[in-house]
Amino acid sequence: MSDTAIYEIGKEVYLIKSEEHDFHRNIYLKKFIAPDGTVKNMIFDPGTKLDLPNLLEALKKLTGGIQEVDFVFLSHQDPDVSANINMILTTAPRAVVLASLDTWRLVKMYGLPEKRFWGIENLKSETVKIKKTGHKITFIPALYAHFRGAMMVYDYESDVLFPGDFLGGLNTRGGSGIYATEESWKGISLFHQLYIPCNRAVQNAIGKIGMLPKIPEIVAPQHGDILKGKIIETFMDRLMQLDVGLDISSDESDRELIILALNKFLEIFKTQQNESFTRLMTELKKPGEFTTFFTISEDTILNLKISEQEAISFFWETTRKHIPQEILPLISALFVDTMEEFGIHIPHDIASQVKKYAVDEELFS
Ligand SMILES: [Fe+2]
Ligand SMILES: [Fe+2]
Repeated sequence: MSDTAIYEIGKEVYLIKSEEHDFHRNIYLKKFIAPDGTVKNMIFDPGTKLDLPNLLEALKKLTGGIQEVDFVFLSHQDPDVSANINMILTTAPRAVVLASLDTWRLVKMYGLPEKRFWGIENLKSETVKIKKTGHKITFIPALYAHFRGAMMVYDYESDVLFPGDFLGGLNTRGGSGIYATEESWKGISLFHQLYIPCNRAVQNAIGKIGMLPKIPEIVAPQHGDILKGKIIETFMDRLMQLDVGLDISSDESDRELIILALNKFLEIFKTQQNESFTRLMTELKKPGEFTTFFTISEDTILNLKISEQEAISFFWETTRKHIPQEILPLISALFVDTMEEFGIHIPHDIASQVKKYAVDEELFS
């Protein structure tokens, strides 16, 4: 087995990252170490069955083994977060689950004993001290971001916030490394558009983070890149303005027009280039490591799961990548014409590229 990638991202905070390129999971371990040497180990969102071998290996290296786990924080109950919980509680005799009551109501369906659960709402206050080490942590509700009972937690010693799925993202940065750059924004934006029900939930969660004594130095979400330093405020400012979930579907007429235009494009494309069309449809329907951005039945797009502009960009990128290069000018021209026919604005980042191919085609014709 290859060595599990472990990164120390803050004082005694370790990241165990899964290997997928499009969309991966981050599991974290925090070791609270008292001056007298007492150690309390907390793991955050311990991942899926697929992560278990890496998690076990990492825990062996960092704590001496899974049996040394004292606390398991669950930001919510999704299987990518909680699937290993039963196994951990069985192997770590001292371990207790820290989660909201809403999370517990669902996660206990794994057959977990009530006495191994500490409900966050039942604690004396949102800020608690770890017994025997004295470290302070604060729990922060992230109402509907993306689950009703979603929780975040902030560790004072390392200045790290663990926000669960909130502030997470798909991997659009590419390359190696673990820290977010400007290229990470697209993935964060898409992830929030898909999974956060409305912008009010985003505003509420960011407002709660703003009530901490300071903006954390590091944000360690369950998916995507680690945010460090100034980029945290930059991205939070943008998220405050971002339409997500139900906000996106509000302008139905625009949306329907785009769906019509994309289907018209596909229809003509099919009659002209049947083989390439079939390949493109396979790509558009493929969930890959994440999800599809369109609802498609047969060969027709029924709905968009992301904003109109993102959908056009994604649609064009997929088309461009999966058709033979020699027909690119022709198909570019068709795409531009069809969008123009429906009066649809092509996003700036792809407009110049598409038009360039289209012009080349005119020169050749
Ligand atoms: Fe989730
Ligand atoms: Fe998740």
